[in-house]
This record gives sequence, structure tokens and C-alpha cells, in this order.
Amino acid sequence: MKIRTFRERDGDAVVSLWEGTGLARPWLDLHAEICEKRRRDRSLFIVATLRGAIVGSVMGAYDGRRGWVYHLAVAPERQRRGVGKALMDALEARMARIGVIKVNLQVRTDNAAVQAFYVGLGYADDRVTSYGKWLVPPSVPKT
Ligand SMILES: CC(C)(COP(=O)(O)OP(=O)(O)OC[C@H]1O[C@@H](n2cnc3c(N)ncnc32)[C@H](O)[C@@H]1OP(=O)(O)O)[C@@H](O)C(=O)NCCC(=O)NCCS
Repeated sequence: MKIRTFRERDGDAVVSLWEGTGLARPWLDLHAEICEKRRRDRSLFIVATLRGAIVGSVMGAYDGRRGWVYHLAVAPERQRRGVGKALMDALEARMARIGVIKVNLQVRTDNAAVQAFYVGLGYADDRVTSYGKWLVPPSVPKT
């Protein structure tokens, strides 16, 4: 397995990965998210490959104060083999190099399984409630 920075030609494979791991939502334009992501924090968008095929990815962000983790996904048939941990280790190392001192992430309350994964990596529940507001409401109704 190799861990490397996302390349433009990885787009379709990464979107398929997100769709196959339940991260897609009707109101998200995943290709647009990728385009926008590549304009910033380019080195924090990381993929895992096996014999050239994308088997995992994670999208990191640094807002100048905290690092954030988005869309971590590992292909279902490659899960529980350390790919997710390897992606997170690589992301944390890259973040540390650019000065990030704390990494935050959000887990949907209906995604209980992933909590054990993050706790195992040293993440703790910060006991905050996350609020959000759409400045451009999604064109597809959000459920
Ligand atoms: C979360 C996810 C990325 C983990 O990737 P992974 O490659 O399977 O994780 P790893 O193999 O590196 O797991 C490392 C350790 O985390 C824990 N862990 C991972 N998945 C777990 C699960 N479903 N339940 C309990 N513990 C889990 C285990 O302790 C595991 O070590 P072990 O297999 O030796 O017991 C993967 O399950 C996934 O893609 N899920 C769907 C998408 C998703 O929910 N992403 C997160 C959005 S916040």
C-alpha cells in the first residue's frame, strides 16, 4: 500500500469510494468539493493506493487555528487492515509539519462504529455541540 497526495486524475475513483462508504449525500456536490479542495490545503488531501487502485482517502484542512478531518473512507473490502489508521497517521504528520497543534473532526451521531476507530487513534469526545448554517441552501432537500 502507498500513501500519497491526491492527484487530479483520482477524482472519479475517490467519489466512487465516498459513494461506496456512505459518505455521499444528495445535497453534496462531491466533484465540486474536490475542485475547491485542490485550491487550498492541497497536501492535506491524501489517498491510499494498492497496486495503483485507490483504496482509501482523507481530506484534511487547516484553518489557521485547528486542523480538521473530512471524508475519511476506506473501501469496504479493504477495511480492518490498517488503511484508515495509515491515512490518519499520514495526515497528522503532514498537519504537524505545517504547525497544527490540535486536530478536530466531526462524527455523525448515527455513525457509532467509527467512534471506536477514532478513540483508538487517541481522539476524545470534546463534549461540544456542533452548529451549522447554510449560507447557500442546498438545492436538494436535506434529510
Ligand atoms: C472508519 C474507517 C475509515 C476505518 O478504516 P479501516 O481501514 O477499517 O481502519 P483500520 O483498519 O485502520 O482500524 C484501526 C483500528 O480501529 C478500530 N476500528 C476500525 N473500524 C472499526 C469498527 N467498525 N468498529 C470498531 N473498531 C473499529 C479497530 O481497533 C482497528 O484495529 P483492529 O482492526 O486491529 O482491531 C472505515 O471503517 C470506513 O471507511 N468507514 C466508512 C466511512 C466513514 O464512516 N468514515 C468516517 C467519517 S467520520
